[in-house]
Amino acid sequence: MKKIAVIPGDGIGIDVTAEALKVMAAAQASGLPITWDVFDYGAEKFLATGITLPDSEVENFRRNYDAIYVGAVGDPRVPDMRHAKDILLGLRFKLDLYVNYRPVKLYDESLCPLKGKSIKDIDFVVFRENTEGMYAGIGGHLKQGTPDEVALQVSANTRKGVERIIRYAFEFAKKSGRKRVTMSDKSNAMRFEGDLWQRTFYEVGEEYPDIEKQHWYIDALLMQMVKKPEQFDVIVTCNMFGDIATDLGGQLAGGLGLAASGNLNPGHTSLFEPVHGSAPKYHGQDVANPLAAILTVGVMLEYLGWPQWNKKIEKAVIQAIKTGNVPRDLGGKLGTKASGDYIVSRLVTPE
Ligand code: NAD
Ligand code: IPM
Ligand code: MN
Repeated sequence: MKKIAVIPGDGIGIDVTAEALKVMAAAQASGLPITWDVFDYGAEKFLATGITLPDSEVENFRRNYDAIYVGAVGDPRVPDMRHAKDILLGLRFKLDLYVNYRPVKLYDESLCPLKGKSIKDIDFVVFRENTEGMYAGIGGHLKQGTPDEVALQVSANTRKGVERIIRYAFEFAKKSGRKRVTMSDKSNAMRFEGDLWQRTFYEVGEEYPDIEKQHWYIDALLMQMVKKPEQFDVIVTCNMFGDIATDLGGQLAGGLGLAASGNLNPGHTSLFEPVHGSAPKYHGQDVANPLAAILTVGVMLEYLGWPQWNKKIEKAVIQAIKTGNVPRDLGGKLGTKASGDYIVSRLVTPE
């Protein structure tokens, strides 16, 4: 039996997680040995009690759960994102979820904003380093609030951290039969970390003679993602650049309403969430697209050992797109709940 801790979080995180849970329930009803508990961590709880995510709960997740499923966090009433820092970034750091796996896969030509691109052209995976870089929380203020104010935000890059994400990207390429790994940094301007990323990439890359190595500076990478996305198989980059590249990647494949992700510590409790945020203005209106959240269930079930369920869910989503049974951000008319119901109806229909 695999156990999942579910944190719907804030805003549309709550709306889309309700639909993700319908899909988990359908999988469970068809015999998949999964079970879950729902936790109410998020802005509401933080504002009422001051509690973000206690360390004891992180330990509970680590010891007693195989996966954590998060809807989204972020609420305009908590502008400094204090709760999110503990919930999302806290779990990434404390559970050492060093792989942020973000597939960019166009399911239907009609959804691509680029001219003349087919589903074969937009099919790659971004591996975003998830525990270091600009997100490490190292820095501080000096003379805050005065005209001489200084703000420091330090980018931390360790050999271990850089090496393990690069190695993971190469291993993934090897296992999945992908031909090329592209590393992206800003080593023309940021020499210290750039040097470490460059050396590590080519040193680790020597162990994978059959896989082509490619490098783009991050500004050029983003341009190439638009100009010639078909060149990409696997992209590996740091925390901050990966964050930016995957919103762009999401849009190439139809928008954030379809972008799924996994935050992995391979072999240990890992976290799954759609790439999008809490889009507060859409909360409770039955308009948010739940398909990213539903595809994220597929990514999670694959990680837990059931890749065939990921395929089934992807197939149902493709069917939804082809038949126009999608929410309005994808040009359809379905509300959040009807969109979730449609996917469930496809999952329970015998093939
Ligand atoms: P966002 O992803 O929440 O929304 C940006 C826009 O994308 C929305 O206005 C909407 O037009 C569209 N969109 C996103 N998801 C959608 C969906 N499922 N269906 C339909 N349209 C969708 O990004 P934001 O507005 O920059 O951030 C809002 C809050 O979410 C902030 O507090 C931010 O920090 C937080 N955030 C959280 C996560 C996370 O929890 N993983 C990720 C990104 C942003
Ligand atoms: C993401 C989000 C987060 C990040 C925010 C909410 C801190 O944008 O998961 O992509 O920057 O990692
Ligand atoms: Mn992001």
